[in-house]
Amino acid sequence: MPKTIMITGVSSGIGKVTAEYFTSKGWKVIGTSRSANPVQNVYALDVTNATACQQVIDQVVNDHGQIDAVVNNAGYGLYGAFEQCDDQDVRKQYEVNVFGTMNVCRAILPHMRKWKQGTILNISSIGGKFVVPYYGVYNSTKFAVEGFSEGLWHEVLPFGIRVKVVEPGAINTGFYDRSKQEGKQMAIDPEYKATSDRLWPQYAQAGKTGADPMVVAKVIYKAATSQNKRLRYAAARDAHINIAFMKLLPHQIGLWLARKFTVDR
Ligand SMILES: NC(=O)c1ccc[n+]([C@@H]2O[C@H](COP(=O)([O-])OP(=O)(O)OC[C@H]3O[C@@H](n4cnc5c(N)ncnc54)[C@H](OP(=O)(O)O)[C@@H]3O)[C@@H](O)[C@H]2O)c1
Repeated sequence: MPKTIMITGVSSGIGKVTAEYFTSKGWKVIGTSRSANPVQNVYALDVTNATACQQVIDQVVNDHGQIDAVVNNAGYGLYGAFEQCDDQDVRKQYEVNVFGTMNVCRAILPHMRKWKQGTILNISSIGGKFVVPYYGVYNSTKFAVEGFSEGLWHEVLPFGIRVKVVEPGAINTGFYDRSKQEGKQMAIDPEYKATSDRLWPQYAQAGKTGADPMVVAKVIYKAATSQNKRLRYAAARDAHINIAFMKLLPHQIGLWLARKFTVDR
């Protein structure tokens, strides 16, 4: 019997490549995307809609039976200084990255508890471990994903359910273009705008030269198939290097470096 995995946000980037990779490994892959996709086994779902998450997951279980793993991948990174992002921008960022992840977990957990097994893989980011300026709101959502996942790890382990957090570094996907489009980038103070405009090419370039999404797909596969209780998995070289530095360097130096390579550059 092939194992079954459900992945949110399979229309592009990491989600799409991960879906293809698991398919190549013989898994049955169920995807979700906001746009109703005529592709087989892709369900229309906006993860910000809690009722829809419940309905779609119940439908998937009805159609395909047991789901062995769920990847909370749908997400985006709001770009801009906090004051450049209005309340709506910030709430939407949390609705997708944090509450979307929680909605899917809430819907799948009763099923996994009944099956007494399952793996939930939440896609965080290296930005869930440290913050870069003008991505602070996005980074804070990934800090929330980290904390939420760690709490859940403790809570559901006794039921045979594993929680894993995958922390990609810069990955070459549509993420960076989407980042710029999502926020209104209100120009409250010209200084913010000047810094934002100056930093943006640097971040966009990091995305262009970032790792191939296949690197993340392989880490997700490793985490989904592992028999151990490990919680966190870094993905891509820059994520491994940054996490290693964070373990070695005092936090104050990390803050100084982050400033030096961004706003003070
Ligand atoms: N690229 C990076 O450098 C990087 C680094 C660290 C972490 N990540 C994380 O990796 C995940 C995937 O990002 P990516 O790089 O693959 O970006 P991407 O190519 O822009 O893909 C993002 C996916 O999220 C889905 N999505 C966005 N808003 C949604 C919503 N409201 N409801 C449901 N789905 C939604 C999109 O699907 P639809 O438009 O079809 O709905 C899309 O398939 C995100 O959680 C991101 O934060 C990315």
